[in-house]
Amino acid sequence: MGTILLIHGPNLNLLGKRDSAHYGTTALADIEKLVSSEAKRLGLDVKTFQSNHEGALIDWLQQESPNASGIIINPGALTHYSYALHDALVDTSLPCVEVHLSDVNAREEWRRVSVTAPACIGLVSGKKEQGYIEALAILKEQPKK
Ligand code: DQA
Repeated sequence: MGTILLIHGPNLNLLGKRDSAHYGTTALADIEKLVSSEAKRLGLDVKTFQSNHEGALIDWLQQESPNASGIIINPGALTHYSYALHDALVDTSLPCVEVHLSDVNAREEWRRVSVTAPACIGLVSGKKEQGYIEALAILKEQPKK
């Protein structure tokens, strides 16, 4: 069974309490449960991690990626400026899909730039938690190495 790493960056631990107009009302733990149960249906396993710290996210990616088959990441605001996270994703050599709950293209100008997306095979934005289900489907379509 392939393992998918589900990673959330800064402030996403507050989902459910954060600006619901942009991010919806679902708590992070519930998103993780939703993704895990859909993954199970697809024959995949999910490992989850959230941190408010760039280095902790990179450490976890380096530690877990050798035993994983794909990545779903919502890097939070790190999306817009973390070249270190971009490089860490590239270094995993795993297919990665970036997810944003909100429609980042319909918000402030600075949110339209993603420096991490070029390290990913797909980007889903503005579909709230359904975006993660789409990301799983994209990863599932990937040919096995
Ligand atoms: C976000 C969008 C980012 O711009 C923001 O900084 C977040 C959440 C999203 O899921 O829509 O923290 O990644």
